[in-house]
Amino acid sequence: MAEKSVYVRDIREGLQVDSPFVIDAAELREKRGGKYILLTLSDRTGRQICRVWGTPESDAAAIEALYRTIRTGEIYRIRGYAKIFNGNCEINVNDGISHLLNPVPLSDVNIDDYIYAPVDCAGVAAALRRVIGSIEDDGIRRLTASAVSEAEGFFEVPAAVFRHHDYVGGLAEHTLETVRLACACADTVARTAMNRDVLVGGAVLHDIGKALCFRRQGISFAVLPDYDLIGHTTVGMNLLSRYRGFTDPASFAHILHIVQSHHGPHGEVAPRTAEAWAVHLADRASALLREVSDDVAELASGEGRKKGSRSGEPVYRF
Ligand SMILES: [Fe+2]
Ligand SMILES: [Fe+2]
Repeated sequence: MAEKSVYVRDIREGLQVDSPFVIDAAELREKRGGKYILLTLSDRTGRQICRVWGTPESDAAAIEALYRTIRTGEIYRIRGYAKIFNGNCEINVNDGISHLLNPVPLSDVNIDDYIYAPVDCAGVAAALRRVIGSIEDDGIRRLTASAVSEAEGFFEVPAAVFRHHDYVGGLAEHTLETVRLACACADTVARTAMNRDVLVGGAVLHDIGKALCFRRQGISFAVLPDYDLIGHTTVGMNLLSRYRGFTDPASFAHILHIVQSHHGPHGEVAPRTAEAWAVHLADRASALLREVSDDVAELASGEGRKKGSRSGEPVYRF
């Protein structure tokens, strides 16, 4: 049995790490003519960034060859040391690169130690189904329910590779938060006269394309090329285009507008209705508060950073 001696939760600057972790994502990066591998690691306590530099003798070709052998979703022994880099604690691997040549067989580990899943997936799914069931307009309710059930993986995929809601069930959790926050805006701001059914439908569907951008691989999720090549908004719009005719044309166009503009004033299409703004602000609030909370959770009391690794914003822990 491969011993799990260090958990993500316990990693602090200066710690020597020698323990198995899941590799969720791997990316080949360049720095000053050389190459290194940027890894996203996880175990049941959280996510961790790791940079594989190799030894001074490892040339760019050797690092690239190593990168091509790494299979995401598998467990690898990571041997390195933790260091603050750009204000964030990361693991650096130098002479421990040989441990990355072969994954640890799953039969050698307790898989529960490696799955980062802070979400009550069944509870979130039930709450989302109740929300969809509360849509009064038959067409909008059928459109929303059909798209969610067709987007296989909606209730289990993460919402991102690293940053916010980047864990099993993260997309559904982020979607539920976005719906609740958008409805809170509609209920709180006086005289906005929002169409609640369109608002809820648009909020549920705003990131529906992400459900089609991840695939189960090993004990994790691999991101598919569509995520970067096409983008989750366009993937979602493609899926939704099949449901034209489920509802009146104006409601359908409004829901498509909410999905297309959910990245706000800097996206390709800026929000033009109160409902679209509410979904954009709710999406941003859910994502940013998750990122800041996770950044702060990594700090010791009285510690601050100029740039949190997830939020990119200044963070401090009281
Ligand atoms: Fe999005
Ligand atoms: Fe989102």
